[in-house]
Amino acid sequence: MKNVKYEAPSNIALVKYWGKYGNQLPRNASISFTLTNCKSIFDIQLLDKSHHGIEVEINFEGKSNPKFAEKISLFFGKIAADYPIVNQYKFSIVSSNTFPHSSGIASSASSMAALAMCLEELQHGIPDLQRASSIARIGSGSASRSVIPKLGWWGSHGAQPMSSNEYAVSVWEETDEVFHNYQNAILIASSGEKSVSSSMGHELMNNHVFGDLRFQNANQSIVELYGAMREGDLEKWGEIVEYEALSLHALMMMSHPSFILMKPNSISMIEKIRDFRTSSKLPVYFTLDAGPNIHLLYPKCIEKQVSEFIKNDMEALCENGVWIQDFVGDGPQRL
Ligand code: PMV
Repeated sequence: MKNVKYEAPSNIALVKYWGKYGNQLPRNASISFTLTNCKSIFDIQLLDKSHHGIEVEINFEGKSNPKFAEKISLFFGKIAADYPIVNQYKFSIVSSNTFPHSSGIASSASSMAALAMCLEELQHGIPDLQRASSIARIGSGSASRSVIPKLGWWGSHGAQPMSSNEYAVSVWEETDEVFHNYQNAILIASSGEKSVSSSMGHELMNNHVFGDLRFQNANQSIVELYGAMREGDLEKWGEIVEYEALSLHALMMMSHPSFILMKPNSISMIEKIRDFRTSSKLPVYFTLDAGPNIHLLYPKCIEKQVSEFIKNDMEALCENGVWIQDFVGDGPQRL
Protein backbone atom coordinates (compact mmCIF):
# COMPACT_ATOMS: atom_id res chain seq x y z
CA MET A 1 0.00 0.00 0.00
CA LYS A 2 1.12 3.54 -0.69
CA ASN A 3 2.70 5.70 1.98
CA VAL A 4 3.69 9.38 1.84
CA LYS A 5 5.02 11.83 4.41
CA TYR A 6 5.41 15.63 4.23
CA GLU A 7 6.07 18.50 6.57
CA ALA A 8 4.84 22.04 5.86
CA PRO A 9 5.37 25.28 7.76
CA SER A 10 3.04 27.92 9.10
CA ASN A 11 3.18 31.42 7.63
CA ILE A 12 2.81 34.94 8.95
CA ALA A 13 0.84 37.41 6.83
CA LEU A 14 2.27 40.90 6.28
CA VAL A 15 -0.85 42.05 4.42
CA LYS A 16 -3.76 40.06 5.79
CA TYR A 17 -6.48 38.00 4.17
CA TRP A 18 -9.67 38.82 6.07
CA GLY A 19 -12.88 38.48 4.09
CA LYS A 20 -13.78 35.92 1.43
CA TYR A 21 -16.42 34.94 -1.12
CA GLY A 22 -17.40 31.94 -3.25
CA ASN A 23 -15.24 28.86 -2.87
CA GLN A 24 -12.67 30.29 -0.43
CA LEU A 25 -11.67 33.15 -2.69
CA PRO A 26 -10.08 36.22 -1.06
CA ARG A 27 -11.64 39.69 -1.09
CA ASN A 28 -8.13 41.20 -1.31
CA ALA A 29 -4.61 40.09 -2.12
CA SER A 30 -2.41 39.02 0.81
CA ILE A 31 1.28 38.28 1.25
CA SER A 32 3.17 36.30 3.89
CA PHE A 33 6.52 35.00 5.01
CA THR A 34 6.64 31.22 4.97
CA LEU A 35 8.21 30.07 8.23
CA THR A 36 10.58 27.24 9.16
CA ASN A 37 10.22 25.95 12.71
CA CYS A 38 6.46 26.07 13.24
CA LYS A 39 5.32 23.19 11.09
CA SER A 40 2.94 20.26 10.77
CA ILE A 41 3.88 16.74 9.76
CA PHE A 42 1.50 14.43 7.88
CA ASP A 43 2.24 10.75 7.36
CA ILE A 44 -0.41 9.05 5.22
CA GLN A 45 -0.94 5.40 4.51
CA LEU A 46 -3.52 4.28 1.98
CA LEU A 47 -5.40 1.15 3.04
CA ASP A 48 -8.12 -0.99 1.48
CA LYS A 49 -11.57 0.42 2.08
CA SER A 50 -14.07 -1.25 4.36
CA HIS A 51 -17.18 0.61 3.12
CA HIS A 52 -18.40 3.14 0.55
CA GLY A 53 -17.70 6.84 0.96
CA ILE A 54 -14.75 8.75 2.35
CA GLU A 55 -12.86 6.96 5.14
CA VAL A 56 -10.34 8.85 7.26
CA GLU A 57 -8.75 7.95 10.58
CA ILE A 58 -6.20 10.21 12.19
CA ASN A 59 -3.84 9.84 15.08
CA PHE A 60 -2.87 13.35 16.12
CA GLU A 61 0.03 13.70 18.58
CA GLY A 62 -0.38 10.15 19.84
CA LYS A 63 -4.18 10.08 20.14
CA SER A 64 -7.04 9.19 17.84
CA ASN A 65 -8.80 12.47 16.90
CA PRO A 66 -12.31 11.94 15.42
CA LYS A 67 -13.00 15.71 15.23
CA PHE A 68 -9.93 16.29 13.08
CA ALA A 69 -10.87 13.21 10.97
CA GLU A 70 -14.29 14.75 10.37
CA LYS A 71 -12.74 18.06 9.29
CA ILE A 72 -10.47 16.22 6.84
CA SER A 73 -13.37 14.10 5.50
CA LEU A 74 -15.34 17.30 4.82
CA PHE A 75 -12.34 18.75 3.01
CA PHE A 76 -11.96 15.51 0.99
CA GLY A 77 -15.60 15.82 -0.04
CA LYS A 78 -14.88 19.26 -1.49
CA ILE A 79 -11.92 18.14 -3.61
CA ALA A 80 -13.10 14.62 -4.54
CA ALA A 81 -13.92 15.57 -8.14
CA ASP A 82 -10.27 16.51 -8.82
CA TYR A 83 -8.67 13.98 -6.43
CA PRO A 84 -10.61 10.72 -6.97
CA ILE A 85 -8.06 8.97 -4.76
CA VAL A 86 -9.91 10.27 -1.65
CA ASN A 87 -12.77 7.92 -2.53
CA GLN A 88 -10.65 4.97 -3.59
CA TYR A 89 -8.78 4.22 -0.35
CA LYS A 90 -9.09 4.45 3.38
CA PHE A 91 -6.73 7.17 4.64
CA SER A 92 -4.81 6.30 7.78
CA ILE A 93 -3.02 9.46 8.95
CA VAL A 94 -0.47 10.16 11.67
CA SER A 95 0.08 13.87 12.30
CA SER A 96 1.82 16.20 14.72
CA ASN A 97 2.89 19.83 15.05
CA THR A 98 6.33 21.03 16.09
CA PHE A 99 4.81 23.86 18.12
CA PRO A 100 2.89 23.24 21.31
CA HIS A 101 -0.86 22.83 20.84
CA SER A 102 -1.43 25.35 23.62
CA SER A 103 0.81 28.05 22.12
CA GLY A 104 -2.10 29.87 20.48
CA ILE A 105 -0.46 29.41 17.06
CA ALA A 106 -3.00 28.43 14.41
CA SER A 107 -2.12 25.10 12.84
CA SER A 108 -4.65 25.05 10.00
CA ALA A 109 -2.27 26.66 7.47
CA SER A 110 0.60 24.24 8.11
CA SER A 111 -1.71 21.19 8.42
CA MET A 112 -3.64 21.89 5.23
CA ALA A 113 -0.43 22.63 3.31
CA ALA A 114 1.17 19.34 4.45
CA LEU A 115 -2.01 17.42 3.63
CA ALA A 116 -2.26 19.09 0.20
CA MET A 117 1.33 18.06 -0.65
CA CYS A 118 0.59 14.45 0.36
CA LEU A 119 -2.59 14.38 -1.76
CA GLU A 120 -0.80 15.88 -4.74
CA GLU A 121 1.85 13.20 -4.66
CA LEU A 122 -0.64 10.39 -4.09
CA GLN A 123 -2.84 11.55 -6.97
CA HIS A 124 -0.28 12.78 -9.48
CA GLY A 125 3.06 11.21 -8.55
CA ILE A 126 5.07 14.41 -8.74
CA PRO A 127 3.48 17.24 -6.75
CA ASP A 128 2.73 20.49 -8.53
CA LEU A 129 2.97 23.51 -6.20
CA GLN A 130 0.23 25.47 -7.98
CA ARG A 131 -2.27 22.63 -7.70
CA ALA A 132 -1.18 21.92 -4.10
CA SER A 133 -1.67 25.58 -3.19
CA SER A 134 -5.08 25.53 -4.79
CA ILE A 135 -6.37 22.59 -2.73
CA ALA A 136 -4.63 23.82 0.43
CA ARG A 137 -6.72 26.98 -0.08
CA ILE A 138 -9.94 24.94 0.00
CA GLY A 139 -8.88 23.57 3.41
CA SER A 140 -7.86 26.96 4.84
CA GLY A 141 -7.36 30.12 2.76
CA SER A 142 -4.05 31.13 4.30
CA ALA A 143 -2.72 27.56 3.78
CA SER A 144 -2.43 28.39 0.05
CA ARG A 145 0.60 30.54 0.95
CA SER A 146 2.31 27.93 3.18
CA VAL A 147 3.08 25.80 0.12
CA ILE A 148 5.23 28.58 -1.38
CA PRO A 149 8.90 29.11 -0.38
CA LYS A 150 9.87 32.28 1.49
CA LEU A 151 7.24 34.79 0.35
CA GLY A 152 3.80 33.85 -0.97
CA TRP A 153 1.32 36.19 -2.65
CA TRP A 154 -2.28 35.03 -2.83
CA GLY A 155 -5.01 36.98 -4.60
CA SER A 156 -5.42 38.36 -8.07
CA HIS A 157 -3.94 41.86 -8.39
CA GLY A 158 -3.05 44.02 -11.39
CA ALA A 159 0.39 44.75 -9.93
CA GLN A 160 1.35 41.05 -9.97
CA PRO A 161 0.62 39.52 -13.39
CA MET A 162 1.04 35.89 -12.22
CA SER A 163 -1.27 36.32 -9.22
CA SER A 164 -4.53 34.41 -8.82
CA ASN A 165 -7.41 34.07 -6.39
CA GLU A 166 -7.15 30.28 -6.73
CA TYR A 167 -3.56 29.75 -5.56
CA ALA A 168 -0.55 31.56 -4.16
CA VAL A 169 2.57 32.39 -6.16
CA SER A 170 6.20 32.86 -5.20
CA VAL A 171 7.34 36.48 -5.29
CA TRP A 172 10.57 36.48 -3.28
CA GLU A 173 13.00 36.54 -6.22
CA GLU A 174 12.49 40.26 -6.83
CA THR A 175 12.84 41.30 -3.20
CA ASP A 176 15.92 42.64 -1.44
CA GLU A 177 17.97 39.85 0.11
CA VAL A 178 17.64 41.33 3.62
CA PHE A 179 14.18 39.67 3.60
CA HIS A 180 15.31 36.20 2.53
CA ASN A 181 16.28 35.09 6.02
CA TYR A 182 14.09 37.46 8.02
CA GLN A 183 13.52 36.56 11.67
CA ASN A 184 10.18 36.10 13.43
CA ALA A 185 10.07 35.74 17.21
CA ILE A 186 6.57 34.69 18.27
CA LEU A 187 5.84 36.11 21.71
CA ILE A 188 3.01 34.23 23.38
CA ALA A 189 0.82 36.78 25.18
CA SER A 190 -1.89 34.18 25.74
CA SER A 191 -2.24 30.57 24.66
CA GLY A 192 -6.02 30.35 25.19
CA GLU A 193 -8.53 29.42 22.50
CA LYS A 194 -9.16 32.20 19.99
CA SER A 195 -12.32 34.15 20.88
CA VAL A 196 -13.26 34.43 17.19
CA SER A 197 -12.72 31.59 14.72
CA SER A 198 -11.30 32.68 11.38
CA SER A 199 -14.46 31.49 9.59
CA MET A 200 -16.54 33.79 11.79
CA GLY A 201 -14.03 36.62 11.29
CA HIS A 202 -14.26 36.30 7.49
CA GLU A 203 -18.05 36.21 7.75
CA LEU A 204 -18.11 39.40 9.83
CA MET A 205 -16.41 41.23 6.96
CA ASN A 206 -19.42 40.61 4.68
CA ASN A 207 -21.56 43.33 6.20
CA HIS A 208 -18.82 45.35 7.82
CA VAL A 209 -19.26 49.11 7.60
CA PHE A 210 -15.61 49.41 6.46
CA GLY A 211 -15.58 46.20 4.37
CA ASP A 212 -15.16 47.62 0.88
CA LEU A 213 -12.80 50.31 2.12
CA ARG A 214 -10.70 47.62 3.82
CA PHE A 215 -10.38 45.49 0.67
CA GLN A 216 -9.33 48.52 -1.38
CA ASN A 217 -6.94 49.66 1.29
CA ALA A 218 -5.30 46.20 1.60
CA ASN A 219 -4.85 46.04 -2.18
CA GLN A 220 -3.10 49.41 -1.98
CA SER A 221 -0.99 48.39 1.04
CA ILE A 222 0.28 45.26 -0.70
CA VAL A 223 1.64 47.33 -3.59
CA GLU A 224 3.42 49.73 -1.23
CA LEU A 225 4.73 46.92 0.96
CA TYR A 226 6.03 44.91 -1.99
CA GLY A 227 7.68 48.06 -3.38
CA ALA A 228 9.45 48.53 -0.04
CA MET A 229 10.59 44.89 -0.18
CA ARG A 230 12.11 45.42 -3.61
CA GLU A 231 13.89 48.55 -2.46
CA GLY A 232 14.98 47.06 0.86
CA ASP A 233 13.28 49.98 2.64
CA LEU A 234 12.79 48.49 6.11
CA GLU A 235 11.28 51.62 7.63
CA LYS A 236 8.53 51.95 5.04
CA TRP A 237 7.95 48.20 5.11
CA GLY A 238 7.65 48.07 8.90
CA GLU A 239 5.25 50.98 8.98
CA ILE A 240 2.88 49.16 6.58
CA VAL A 241 3.24 45.83 8.42
CA GLU A 242 2.15 47.39 11.74
CA TYR A 243 -0.63 49.36 10.06
CA GLU A 244 -1.97 46.12 8.52
CA ALA A 245 -1.91 44.19 11.80
CA LEU A 246 -3.67 46.99 13.68
CA SER A 247 -6.22 47.38 10.84
CA LEU A 248 -7.20 43.72 11.24
CA HIS A 249 -7.71 44.24 14.97
CA ALA A 250 -9.55 47.53 14.50
CA LEU A 251 -11.93 45.83 12.04
CA MET A 252 -12.72 43.16 14.62
CA MET A 253 -13.26 45.76 17.35
CA MET A 254 -15.74 47.51 15.04
CA SER A 255 -17.70 44.48 13.83
CA HIS A 256 -21.08 43.26 15.12
CA PRO A 257 -20.55 41.54 17.46
CA SER A 258 -17.33 43.26 18.47
CA PHE A 259 -14.16 41.38 19.43
CA ILE A 260 -11.05 42.61 21.21
CA LEU A 261 -8.46 39.99 20.32
CA MET A 262 -5.47 41.52 22.10
CA LYS A 263 -4.72 41.00 25.78
CA PRO A 264 -3.27 43.62 28.15
CA ASN A 265 0.17 42.08 27.65
CA SER A 266 -0.14 42.39 23.86
CA ILE A 267 -0.48 46.17 24.29
CA SER A 268 2.40 46.31 26.80
CA MET A 269 4.60 44.43 24.33
CA ILE A 270 3.65 46.78 21.47
CA GLU A 271 4.53 49.83 23.58
CA LYS A 272 7.89 48.35 24.55
CA ILE A 273 8.69 47.38 20.96
CA ARG A 274 7.99 50.93 19.78
CA ASP A 275 10.09 52.40 22.63
CA PHE A 276 12.93 50.01 21.83
CA ARG A 277 12.77 50.93 18.16
CA THR A 278 12.95 54.64 18.98
CA SER A 279 15.81 54.32 21.46
CA SER A 280 17.91 51.74 19.58
CA LYS A 281 17.06 52.97 16.04
CA LEU A 282 16.90 49.29 15.04
CA PRO A 283 14.30 48.10 12.47
CA VAL A 284 12.21 45.96 14.81
CA TYR A 285 8.51 45.82 13.89
CA PHE A 286 5.57 43.66 14.91
CA THR A 287 2.54 42.02 13.43
CA LEU A 288 -0.34 39.99 14.89
CA ASP A 289 -2.67 37.34 13.54
CA ALA A 290 -6.30 37.28 14.63
CA GLY A 291 -5.21 36.66 18.21
CA PRO A 292 -3.20 38.18 21.07
CA ASN A 293 0.32 36.95 20.22
CA ILE A 294 2.97 39.33 18.95
CA HIS A 295 5.18 38.41 16.00
CA LEU A 296 8.40 40.37 16.19
CA LEU A 297 9.97 40.82 12.75
CA TYR A 298 13.60 41.86 12.18
CA PRO A 299 16.57 41.22 9.90
CA LYS A 300 19.06 38.51 10.85
CA CYS A 301 21.94 41.00 11.13
CA ILE A 302 20.48 42.40 14.39
CA GLU A 303 19.49 39.08 15.97
CA LYS A 304 21.90 39.50 18.91
CA GLN A 305 20.51 42.86 19.98
CA VAL A 306 16.93 41.64 19.55
CA SER A 307 17.61 38.47 21.59
CA GLU A 308 18.83 40.69 24.45
CA PHE A 309 15.73 42.86 24.12
CA ILE A 310 13.45 39.82 24.22
CA LYS A 311 15.21 38.41 27.30
CA ASN A 312 15.26 41.72 29.15
CA ASP A 313 11.92 43.26 28.19
CA MET A 314 9.60 40.76 26.52
CA GLU A 315 10.00 37.42 28.29
CA ALA A 316 8.32 38.64 31.49
CA LEU A 317 5.26 39.65 29.43
CA CYS A 318 5.00 36.26 27.70
CA GLU A 319 2.70 33.64 29.22
CA ASN A 320 4.96 31.36 31.27
CA GLY A 321 7.88 33.16 29.58
CA VAL A 322 7.16 31.26 26.35
CA TRP A 323 8.27 32.55 22.95
CA ILE A 324 9.27 30.74 19.77
CA GLN A 325 12.12 31.62 17.44
CA ASP A 326 11.30 31.25 13.78
CA PHE A 327 12.52 32.60 10.45
CA VAL A 328 11.72 32.65 6.75
CA GLY A 329 11.95 29.19 5.19
CA ASP A 330 11.75 27.08 2.07
CA GLY A 331 8.23 25.66 2.30
CA PRO A 332 7.09 22.01 2.47
CA GLN A 333 9.58 19.14 2.45
CA ARG A 334 9.06 15.49 1.65
CA LEU A 335 10.19 13.26 4.54
O1 PMV B 1 -6.83 30.74 6.57
P1 PMV B 1 -7.87 31.23 7.52
O2 PMV B 1 -9.25 31.12 6.97
O3 PMV B 1 -7.69 30.61 8.88
O4 PMV B 1 -7.66 32.82 7.71
C1 PMV B 1 -6.50 33.32 8.32
C2 PMV B 1 -6.51 34.78 8.36
C3 PMV B 1 -5.33 35.44 9.08
O5 PMV B 1 -4.44 34.49 9.60
C4 PMV B 1 -5.86 36.28 10.25
C5 PMV B 1 -4.61 36.38 8.13
C6 PMV B 1 -3.80 35.73 7.06
O6 PMV B 1 -3.80 36.25 5.95
O7 PMV B 1 -3.11 34.73 7.35
